[in-house]
Amino acid sequence: MSSKNDRALRFYNEVLGLERLHYGIWLSEDELSIEKLKEAQERYENYIIDNIPENVKTILDVGCGTGILTKRLISFGYHVEGLSPDIHQKRIFTENISAPFHHLAFENFSKTDQYDCMIMSESAQYISIEKLFKNAKRSLKKNGYLMICDYFVLKNASGELSKSGHDYEAFMDHIKNAEFTIVSEDDLTERVTKTLDLGKNFVEKALLALEIGTEKIRDRHPNISRFLLRLFKKKIEKFNQQIQLLDSCEFIKNKTYRFILMQANS
Ligand SMILES: C[S@@+](CC[C@H](N)C(=O)[O-])C[C@H]1O[C@@H](n2cnc3c(N)ncnc32)[C@H](O)[C@@H]1O
Repeated sequence: MSSKNDRALRFYNEVLGLERLHYGIWLSEDELSIEKLKEAQERYENYIIDNIPENVKTILDVGCGTGILTKRLISFGYHVEGLSPDIHQKRIFTENISAPFHHLAFENFSKTDQYDCMIMSESAQYISIEKLFKNAKRSLKKNGYLMICDYFVLKNASGELSKSGHDYEAFMDHIKNAEFTIVSEDDLTERVTKTLDLGKNFVEKALLALEIGTEKIRDRHPNISRFLLRLFKKKIEKFNQQIQLLDSCEFIKNKTYRFILMQANS
């Protein structure tokens, strides 16, 4: 687990050139562009920072990605540590940030009584609910805060979008059982989905470019084209299913994107 290497996140980082690995909070008037996505991602980080309770000094950034948020938190004077099981993120983080980095999955993290606050920015979905609360409770100081910003799966969700993320109701039920109290909650769903619209635009344009680029070959060699289509049928079907993940209407139907701030009961 400690050498985990997330290829999807590497794609965003290395191919699309995005330093940040999270959605973003968009304004309704924003056009769909990479520049606006970067602004939305920065707005999202500001939102997180603005919501950190006043007395917090020490923070664990759980699933810290490339460490952009960690860096910003440090610039605001917080004492921050990063954690990620991803070997590629470890390299980027340690090259750019002089803060402690824990290279492991949060499920295996066992520090006791260390932090005033833990931030899980789009990383809670990767951590089993049981371990998430158990390890958070143990590593937080008395009455410490757990801040989660992530998407969850709604009741009766179906299709590809029901396959990733924790079940929202089960997660909320677990908060009480795990002896945390909700301090505040915000539904950000409608404000983040333009990230998906942008992704969908990007894929559709790439497909159109492929279609135009291969037109001549398809016209000249129709039999070979049909053969290749048959050969890659399964892959094409899988790709069409995956594209559903970028459909913002489907996302709104099946998912909810939440900010949740909790405090550990003493
Ligand atoms: C979508 S990225 C979010 C990164 C960053 N927090 C941000 O907001 O840009 C998910 C992060 O969770 C990390 N992650 C995946 N599984 C994890 C686990 N079991 N424990 C802790 N972090 C995990 C990934 O390596 C990655 O850093």
